[in-house]
Amino acid sequence: MSLKSINPTKTNSWINLRNHFNDIKDIHIRELFNEDTHRLETLSIEWEDFYFDFSKNKINSVTINLFNDLLEEIDLKSSIKKYFTGEKINSTESRAVLHTALRASENEKILVDGKDIIPKITKAKEKIKLFTESILTGNHTGFKGHKITDIVNIGIGGSDLGPSMVVESLSHYKTDLNSHFVSNVDGDHLNEVLGKLRPETTLFIIVSKTFTTIETLTNANSVRSWFLNAASENDISKHFIAVSSNIEKAVEFGINPENIFPMWDWVGGRFSLWSSVGISISLSIGYEKFEELLLGARKMDLHFKSNEFSKNIPVLMACLSMWYNNFFNYQTHAVIPYSENLKSFSKYLQQASMESNGKQTDRSGNLTNYETGQIIWGQTGTNAQHSFFQLLHQGSKIIPSDFIGFKNSIKGNEVHHDILMANFFAQTKALMNGTINEKVESNHRLFKGDRPTNTFLINKLSPSSLGSLIAMYEHKIFTLGVIWNILSFDQFGVELGKKLATNILQDLTSQDFNSHDSSTKTLLNRYSSTD
Ligand code: F6P
Repeated sequence: MSLKSINPTKTNSWINLRNHFNDIKDIHIRELFNEDTHRLETLSIEWEDFYFDFSKNKINSVTINLFNDLLEEIDLKSSIKKYFTGEKINSTESRAVLHTALRASENEKILVDGKDIIPKITKAKEKIKLFTESILTGNHTGFKGHKITDIVNIGIGGSDLGPSMVVESLSHYKTDLNSHFVSNVDGDHLNEVLGKLRPETTLFIIVSKTFTTIETLTNANSVRSWFLNAASENDISKHFIAVSSNIEKAVEFGINPENIFPMWDWVGGRFSLWSSVGISISLSIGYEKFEELLLGARKMDLHFKSNEFSKNIPVLMACLSMWYNNFFNYQTHAVIPYSENLKSFSKYLQQASMESNGKQTDRSGNLTNYETGQIIWGQTGTNAQHSFFQLLHQGSKIIPSDFIGFKNSIKGNEVHHDILMANFFAQTKALMNGTINEKVESNHRLFKGDRPTNTFLINKLSPSSLGSLIAMYEHKIFTLGVIWNILSFDQFGVELGKKLATNILQDLTSQDFNSHDSSTKTLLNRYSSTD
């Protein structure tokens, strides 16, 4: 059964939110603190090793109640249930959406088409575990009998962004393998990576759910040729593994069927790092730590499933984004982690969020007449402070932002960590307060403040807390999709460009550009000309 189709803007609570917006929009966030002495108690949540402070937002307890009314009216509860229990909520592709099953307990039972999928997941995890151990212990050797020293993940989109972000984020927990990621079909990058490697000590992981993605297959074929310059066909099975749901195509490519790790159609690419797609994570940090990542995510799943909405972190994050997007017309959202390890976090979230909720059609098939989707961007603090924070503080656009910081550094360098975190606390304070009560020389030095932020103070960056953090954003994305009445789990928007690229590639071979518009034709002629 698919999700209900309810236009949020036609609900009573939306009208009430509109009226409430008119009441609250001109009240400075700082003043909201004066209005309610219990503000922080209502607008903060302590959960596991997370502290979520959302008090520096343009909301009060009335807003939270109205959010709750809206969620009741659109029946978020039943949508959450369908999401976790394998209903085919990806209705355009007639698929369940069960990345959460990948981190569920082995004792659970989750049915897809009447069959429990947990045994398959357990079996796949066992395969990842054994393979990881055989590589890390040196049991599995390369074609010359050497230990594997380097792994290369070849995949794009969800087959790259999740694993590469996690491997980078958890580099302090790393095994002695060196990990590399090749996603773009940019030959210069591939050559640069191959230049650092020796065929006899390298393992290539071809990750493609469909095994038809042109970027991945082109890279995989080039890597195969590079490998075969030094080795023979028989050696391929020691150096190439694949993660795919398309076994036939992977075998056709030359992968030994025993070296194919499964993927299933009920796991979307952008939510797949918890599956065999995460094998590079397991190899990079060890299987036990990979399990810790999954466990962190599972804890967040339980929080999301069971907590009342007014104390539910992903639900509140989604409501806040809807509030700013649809009522204040703030179009973008920044994510600023104060950890250099999380430098790819916003890049990862861009796919998770924008490929999911960048939709113009509602669940009844009508084009929406309200804003959906969120432009996500960001960079690590303090770097971002010396880059785009000028606009955050004094620009004419308001950018709601998530600040993610850690109470403890990983290796315990207190001096640096205090400086890092002093900046973290200073920025959200400055964005809220501005200089409103201070005398400033001129408007050039004026900070109006009143800029909303969420603060996440997490104990430490670890596999478990990262797992929870990622799952938290996954559920925020899901909830926003439910509120906006869109289908978050297909991605037809990427198809047109792919199709045209295939046609253009053929035209480049035939050198016939006549079917194109004048702009494209001129560009193709210029590209093809020999001068
Ligand atoms: O960009 C479209 C997309 O289908 C993503 O959703 C997906 O993560 C990526 O391409 C890669 O797909 P595959 O794993 O099938 O190669």
